[in-house]
Amino acid sequence: MERLQKIIANSGFCSRRKAEELIQKGLVTVNGKTITDLGTKASLGDAITVNGKTIKQEIKEYILLYKPRGIITSTTDEKGRKTVTDLIETENRLYPVGRLDYDTSGLLILTNDGELTNKLIHPKNEIQKQYIVKIDEAVNPKLIKKMLTGVISENEKLKADRVKIKKLDKKNNKTIIEIVIHEGKYHQVKRMFEAIGYQVASLKREKLAFLDLTGLKSGEYRHLTLKEVKKLYSLTK
Ligand code: URA
Repeated sequence: MERLQKIIANSGFCSRRKAEELIQKGLVTVNGKTITDLGTKASLGDAITVNGKTIKQEIKEYILLYKPRGIITSTTDEKGRKTVTDLIETENRLYPVGRLDYDTSGLLILTNDGELTNKLIHPKNEIQKQYIVKIDEAVNPKLIKKMLTGVISENEKLKADRVKIKKLDKKNNKTIIEIVIHEGKYHQVKRMFEAIGYQVASLKREKLAFLDLTGLKSGEYRHLTLKEVKKLYSLTK
């Protein structure tokens, strides 16, 4: 159940304030009954009209996309490049939750649920994101450990919750590292490695909270289940 003015605004009919005005003027009906009380709530099954026009209620949609490299995390691009929303077939206007760089692949949530988006990106909720990092060098494990206490990049302290060297190939100068962070600062992972003298060769987000990419190939997506959406909400304040 949501307040009537919120449902009307979410449908894109008008702003929430305008919807309140229309309700107070007696121009809104719910299941044929005129409503003037601003506290009134309605649900998806209710027939709502404004000025005689039926409101198409917005259904919340939650997508888990395996973002390929070479795609912009945005809804539009002024240079006409392909964006993550181009990969998804939907009638809803979905927005990415946070962002992955153009050359980063991996797990990205898209939704029209602004409340969940805000909760997932707010640092106070400490939603953990796990990345796999490839470096074309044999890294010094001592330097990697520094990330746990924090490294300085552009006057900002950037910290990892966990970091683990998965493979250190000294012969071929290659390292694979798993890193978990809960903040989502601009280019955070790449900047953390730069701060200790390494350039990230490739970056992939493997996990967000309890969600991972199981069953998906690059460019594919699936809808979150109701259970998963509820579980995400339960992780946040
Ligand atoms: N950190 C980065 O540097 N880039 C991303 O795309 C995500 C995290």
